[in-house]
Amino acid sequence: MSAPPPPPTIRHVISINDLTNGEIERVFALADRYLDTLGDAASHRIAASTEKASGRILASLFYEPSTRTRLSFESAMLRLGGQIITSADPATSSVAKGESLADTVRVVSSYADAIVLRHPRDGAARLATEYATVPVINGGDGAHEHPTQTLCDIFTLRRENKHLRNLNVVVSGDLKGSRTIHSFVYALARFGANIMLMPAKDMGLPANVDQRLREEFNCQPVPKKRYEDKNSAIDALYVTPDKPHQLSLIPSVDVDDTVDVKIRRKIDAVYVTRFQKERWANVAAEYPKIDAKFLKEAKYAETSVLHPLPRVGELDIALDTDSRALYFRQAAYGVPVRMALIDLLLAGKAEERLAAYAGGFAPPERLLYDRPNDIGLACANPNCIVHDPQERPYARNKFWFVQPPGKAFRLRCFYCDEDIETFVVANAKRKEFHAPGLADEMTRSVPAETVFFADATAARAAGYHQRTERRQSA
Ligand code: NCD
Repeated sequence: MSAPPPPPTIRHVISINDLTNGEIERVFALADRYLDTLGDAASHRIAASTEKASGRILASLFYEPSTRTRLSFESAMLRLGGQIITSADPATSSVAKGESLADTVRVVSSYADAIVLRHPRDGAARLATEYATVPVINGGDGAHEHPTQTLCDIFTLRRENKHLRNLNVVVSGDLKGSRTIHSFVYALARFGANIMLMPAKDMGLPANVDQRLREEFNCQPVPKKRYEDKNSAIDALYVTPDKPHQLSLIPSVDVDDTVDVKIRRKIDAVYVTRFQKERWANVAAEYPKIDAKFLKEAKYAETSVLHPLPRVGELDIALDTDSRALYFRQAAYGVPVRMALIDLLLAGKAEERLAAYAGGFAPPERLLYDRPNDIGLACANPNCIVHDPQERPYARNKFWFVQPPGKAFRLRCFYCDEDIETFVVANAKRKEFHAPGLADEMTRSVPAETVFFADATAARAAGYHQRTERRQSA
């Protein structure tokens, strides 16, 4: 099944890591301008419109419930003078008849100039980019990522004059299932904030997110006893790269322990999330609740309380009148931030759009392994879009080759970013597989006959023989 080749200038925003720090700053500068020129200073809302996206159409394709993301995107497009078309209820669209996401985005690409997509499967938004011929913006894909929420989150802090470098940010709640958290912690790390984890019981960061923070974004975990007392709710702390050369607010292994304790314990932001009940079979035990009592310690005196909303009990409504509570403002900023993003993705001629993104992420230099999905290794994440029976014919076994410094090669699912660290390499022509470790030799290319299997048993089941065994038996 081959996807239509996308025009070269299309930019999709699927992960927060699809945008460079410079591009994120650019979105914020433009959002500031919209807020200043079209906003109502008292209410933090956009109160007037432009004609910037006049004649353009944004399609909202939502396969999961949404209030803020969809309506703020639609409001943003209308404020830009554009128009919207919406499919927000899978029961009333052709999905109910069994139509695939791939076919849907292919068709909707011919009705609109950009698509905002929300879907319950991890990696759905990346799959959509293979079939869409217009920019796809990820409005949340399963538990994977929610990059535009992160833009709103950081923009909110920035409007409070809280620039991320050296900021101490607590993230609390369902760190495992909250896609907002996953995009947010990558951005925190990239902009040099310290990340403090306060997960609900058994709901820590997924292993692959935690691993990426440490291996790719250079976060250094700090032993608990170095930064908090033993009763602290904060479970883990990551400090960011160039710390040893700066005065840190929090002592890390390389930082001077004599820094004033009061200063270094100051928490600049607390980001609260709800239990993602739609993703888990069991109810959450011991879920952290953020209320005035929690925030009464001196270190929270000037903290900003953020929440992507909706809240369902984990954030006390009594805080709403507290000056530290920023979550309704954060939701209001969804409009200027998304106006800026749509503007950069859509407005102007194609050449201008390209110029707007000059200096963006270079295409990854990593190798891509791309095979039909009836051959060899498939993504190990059961919620990945590749396992959706409706989408399976459209997805492939596609993995990036990733090699963190000093580590063995691993495979990262092209769609959902989950890594596979152990696998065997096989040769489809000779029907033989090698002992694990051979992938390390594939630094420049993945030969067309190379196939990966989960392990020797899977390779044997597919009729492959281990290389040495065959020699011996020959
Ligand atoms: C979030 C989401 O959908 O991931 N909501 C939002 O977009 N503001 C958070 C959530 O649903 O918990």
